Amino acid sequence: MDRRSFVKNGAVLGAAAAALPRFGFAQVKGSDRIKVALIGCGGRGTGAACNMIAADPNIKIVALGDLFPEKLDKAANKIHDFAKKSVGESKASEIIDPSKVKKFSGWDNADQVLAEDIDVVIEATPPVFRTPHYEKIVAAGKHAFLEKPGAVDVIQGRKMYKLAEEASKKGLCVVCGNQRRYDNRYQDLVKRMQDGEIGELLAGQCYWNNGGYIGAWANGKEGTEDTLEYQIRNWWCFIWASGDNIVEQHVHNIDVLMWAFGSDRMPVEVTTGLGGRSTDLPCPRYGDRFSHFAIDYDMGNGLRMASYCHQDPNTTPNVSERIVGTKGIFQGLRLTDHKGKTIYAPGKLELDPYIAEHKYLLSAIRSGRRVNELRHLINSNMVAIAGRMSAFSGKRFKYEWMVKKSEENIVPQNVDLMGKTQDLSLKNPVSVPVPGKYKLV
Ligand SMILES: NC(=O)c1ccc[n+]([C@@H]2O[C@H](COP(=O)([O-])OP(=O)(O)OC[C@H]3O[C@@H](n4cnc5c(N)ncnc54)[C@H](O)[C@@H]3O)[C@@H](O)[C@H]2O)c1
Repeated sequence: MDRRSFVKNGAVLGAAAAALPRFGFAQVKGSDRIKVALIGCGGRGTGAACNMIAADPNIKIVALGDLFPEKLDKAANKIHDFAKKSVGESKASEIIDPSKVKKFSGWDNADQVLAEDIDVVIEATPPVFRTPHYEKIVAAGKHAFLEKPGAVDVIQGRKMYKLAEEASKKGLCVVCGNQRRYDNRYQDLVKRMQDGEIGELLAGQCYWNNGGYIGAWANGKEGTEDTLEYQIRNWWCFIWASGDNIVEQHVHNIDVLMWAFGSDRMPVEVTTGLGGRSTDLPCPRYGDRFSHFAIDYDMGNGLRMASYCHQDPNTTPNVSERIVGTKGIFQGLRLTDHKGKTIYAPGKLELDPYIAEHKYLLSAIRSGRRVNELRHLINSNMVAIAGRMSAFSGKRFKYEWMVKKSEENIVPQNVDLMGKTQDLSLKNPVSVPVPGKYKLV
């Protein structure tokens, strides 16, 4: 297969939207009020529920779930406030009534939510819970919007590939929070690259270098940093809960390159993985994760991909993607010649991609089309996991080895993610990985 065909195979929106026979699961008629549940009522979950209202106010939020009970009322009120602004005070309670919406907390909150009469679930918990919760969502036969990332390690990633297939077989829609794929400017530019406008693609670089180490505002009592509660409340600082910043955050930019290259075109080898942690970040207060990564992927056929991310304060921010072709460059959300002169700039942003992703999902559910975007997310997610494994270990390896053979499982053995009640004061000692010592398994 030549490089162009590889690229074309990765066409995303639309191609994945093949019509499938309708099943007896989560059935919605065109004009029904779609019944929604939210699991993970933090910043993004609450935001995603509001984005869903903006996309289609003909929904009813019937259940909220969170590990911690104090999150529930806050989220219900915030979503209600947004609904009031969107549809007016009198109709807002048809979307969510903060006093009547079902609220579930504790380790089995997802089970309780899924026992309600719902059509679609927004899952926006810390990354480590996504896979076990999606397993439950598929078993319950519900459509889903899943935040990114979908998996924190190879074991979860493999499980998600299986769940993506199972969801398709059951006729369940699943759309994910890699929102650049729902941005009309990216869609236009990726299509042009796939159509050869900048020639054969030779190399890509992507960056999530933002200006602060998330975690500087640690959430929890000093002296409790080695407990499950502290680590779940400060999930972004802990490798087991977040997957580290390359997986949790930088997956967005890796996903753009994978999309443009053709989402099923996986790396041949992770040739170099570098990373480390700034010396002024005490562990475990600021978690155990690295503060920076730099990875080089051999994508085969001469194509290389470089990925850079860090979160150190007072450094130059750069969150972007760049792709070099034989005839031009994709950079700064435009196509240029090799000297930097614009050869094509897309039109304006038509719809906030955080809203567009929900429009895509809900309109598919209403029309009976079946969309399943999970495989694309997990492909990019697995590439990010491979980068992390190479940086932690300091080793190069074949990507195929990782996908087929690696047994890396970063979830602490004493944590049961499937919902069994656990003591939140349980100790989970962590340490920062040391390249050369961290074992590739
Ligand atoms: N697509 C994007 O641009 C974007 C932006 C921000 C966050 N995110 C993703 O959304 C997810 C959530 O991020 P956030 O910023 O909202 O974090 P957050 O900490 O604000 O929210 C997470 C919520 O999940 C709850 N929670 C923890 N464990 C749970 C469990 N087992 N069951 C139910 N609830 C549980 C927490 O109490 C919290 O309320 C992350 O995966 C993050 O990467 C995506």
